[in-house]
Amino acid sequence: MGDDRLFDLTGRHAVVTGAAGLLGRQFADALAAQGATVHLLDLAADAVEEVAADIATRSPVPPEWIPVDVTDEDGVCAAIERVGRVDILVNSAAIDPKFEPGQPRNGHLSTYPLDRWNASLNVNLTGVFLTTRECCRNMEPRGEGVIVNISSTYGLVGPDQRIYVTEGGDEFFKPVDYSVTKAGLLGFTRAVAAMYRGTGIRVNALSPGGAHNGQDEEFVRNYSARTILDRMAQPSDYRGAIVFLCSDASRYMTGANLVVDGGWTAL
Ligand SMILES: NC(=O)c1ccc[n+]([C@@H]2O[C@H](COP(=O)([O-])OP(=O)(O)OC[C@H]3O[C@@H](n4cnc5c(N)ncnc54)[C@H](O)[C@@H]3O)[C@@H](O)[C@H]2O)c1
Repeated sequence: MGDDRLFDLTGRHAVVTGAAGLLGRQFADALAAQGATVHLLDLAADAVEEVAADIATRSPVPPEWIPVDVTDEDGVCAAIERVGRVDILVNSAAIDPKFEPGQPRNGHLSTYPLDRWNASLNVNLTGVFLTTRECCRNMEPRGEGVIVNISSTYGLVGPDQRIYVTEGGDEFFKPVDYSVTKAGLLGFTRAVAAMYRGTGIRVNALSPGGAHNGQDEEFVRNYSARTILDRMAQPSDYRGAIVFLCSDASRYMTGANLVVDGGWTAL
């Protein structure tokens, strides 16, 4: 293959979960821009329909959108069956716990409710297990495919709780379930990659840092100061990384984790 085709995804079918999300929609749009037919899965039916309509304005191949809860086994099986052929899976759906007004010691371990812990584990790990299992089953007969699990810098290092303390004037702690599930995804990535030894099914992780999403100025300043590039990410900053991981450009890469965080974890 010539170098000019390394990133080309023409003719490939890509499933993106959490495709209505801030980064999820960028992942789907970036893959579509390289020629992939994208299948957008998300719990938020209206939002994912809007994202699909937006991508359709730029993409020669219209995207498909499927409302699905990734923790619902029957729903996931039906969705992947409906897609038909899966060449690429991006596991982006997640619960990323945010400040919740009125909660004592917001997000702190000492007051953290069991139902929020369980919900995170269910979506961020069990949901990824279900979609990966179904997509791998789909890829097995052809012996090739690409899976990318979206982890986080917080899967690698603990959250710096100092940057959250004054959000909205209230105390907030980034809850432990996020770090636990994102670290778990890195283990899942290595284990599934090893499971498909000797095949063309590759499994990698992408660990982004924090992206701009209307956070208050103080948070943005505090976050930026922890990076080498001195800024938070724009949601579009991860487009190159996802195309690289999903394309033949990364063909000798499996079981790995690509960190794209402005240098946060290098300090
Ligand atoms: N945004 C960031 O700054 C950032 C930083 C590091 C890592 N990440 C990770 O990147 C990925 C994408 O982030 P994002 O900013 O798009 O997140 P987001 O919170 O904006 O979107 C998450 C999406 O997942 C969907 N979802 C939640 N539960 C679901 C379920 N049970 N079934 C199906 N869909 C479900 C939501 O409807 C939403 O559209 C996530 O895994 C996140 O943890 C994000």
